[in-house]
Order: sequence, then structure tokens, then C-alpha cells
Amino acid sequence: MSWNANVLTLYPEMFPGPLAHSLAGRALDDGIWSLDTVQIRDFATDKHRSVDDTPAGGGAGMVMRADVLAAAIDHVLERQPQAPVIAMTPRGLPLTQLLVRALAAGPGVSILCGRFEGIDERLFEARTIIPVSIGDYVLSGGETGALVLLDACIRLLPGVMGAATSGVEESFEAGLLEYPHYTRPTEWEGRTIPEVLRSGDHAKIAAWRKARAEEDTRSRRPDLIERHRDV
Ligand code: ADE
Repeated sequence: MSWNANVLTLYPEMFPGPLAHSLAGRALDDGIWSLDTVQIRDFATDKHRSVDDTPAGGGAGMVMRADVLAAAIDHVLERQPQAPVIAMTPRGLPLTQLLVRALAAGPGVSILCGRFEGIDERLFEARTIIPVSIGDYVLSGGETGALVLLDACIRLLPGVMGAATSGVEESFEAGLLEYPHYTRPTEWEGRTIPEVLRSGDHAKIAAWRKARAEEDTRSRRPDLIERHRDV
């Protein structure tokens, strides 16, 4: 059985989208992962097939209905009960490489893509759903967030990445940003590659990379340094 993604959305035509190309696309063709989209609107019960309604208490926009979403979620839970259910929302827990690794190690994932102003909160009380945000900004919908989450998981599935080690030494795996990279030409616009990288001294290269990873993390992501210190 391949790692399966169920995507619940009002826009199933957005999938697999970019995931039909490159690494993820090849893995999809090879059957390493599979995709099922579910049209949320198919679970609407009224003649207008409505999936949203006005917010209780007033305010702008519309809210996704708990009853319609629960029916769609119950449908995918019946098909794949072991896969965790995630809802993409700016109110969610931050997506991290730790969560990505945990999801990639499991049987797959079911992702609910939020739209409009939000999702009726009672859905999160009535079903086991992990709310996830891909960052502190607001997207027009959860679909692009779901693509990000899936991309991050798929590249970790066994057989997807070329070199067996290429997932180990990258950004966030050690709690830091990765060191910078260089390649030929050795001189470009008057700039040379750091001498140490051409020395062939592997211990020195490793030390230089560690120092640069720490330096760049300190200046770009002080929040990661704080967390790194805690572990
Ligand atoms: N939907 C809207 N904004 C989002 C975000 N930042 N992450 C996940 N889903 C979202």
C-alpha cells in the first residue's frame, strides 16, 4: 500500500497541481504515493449544495459548516481510518519538519482545506482533527497550504529522494538552518568559493559548515537558536 493523501476541498482540480511534476510527480507515477480528492460540496444536503453560512455574532465573510465538513471527513475516515486528519487554517499549529517527518512515517494523511473566514469551531470539538498553519500569513484558502505539506512529506518517503543521505543534513534537521552551498564556476563576478571548501580537508569543511549554520541561524532565525538551546 502506498502512502495515501486524501484532500477534502472545494477545488479538487487544484490537485495534484505542482505535485504532478519533478520528484513528487515521478513518485506519484511510480505508486510511492497516491492521491484521492474529495469534493466537499458533494456532502451538502440542501438544494443549493451550500457549504458555508454567515458567521454567528456577525462580521465579514462566511464560515464553513460543521455538518457538511463532518460528513466529508467521516467519508474519508471510513476509507482510511488510520490516516490522521489535518485542517489547514491560519489558526493552526505551525508546520514543522518534526510534524512532516511524523506524517511521512505514517500511512498517509487526510487534509481538509479551509476557505472563507474559517471553519465552525464545533467541528474541532466533535472530530479528532489537527489544525495546521504553514506560516504567519493568510492564504486565500488551505489548498496551497496542503500542497506545501504534501510536498514536504512526499520527498521523505522511501525511494523518492536520490541519495540516501540527502534528507539528513538539511535545514531544520539539526534544529538549525543549513550551511550555504557553492558550485562551479570557482570565480563568478569576481567572487570566489570559500577556500576551505576546496581544501579537501573534510574535518575542516565540517567545522566551517557547522560554524556558518550557527552564524546564519543566529542572524536570520534567532527563534531557532532559542529552541535549539532548550533541547
Ligand atoms: N489558510 C489560510 N491561511 C493559511 C495558512 N497560513 N496556513 C494554512 N492554511 C491557511
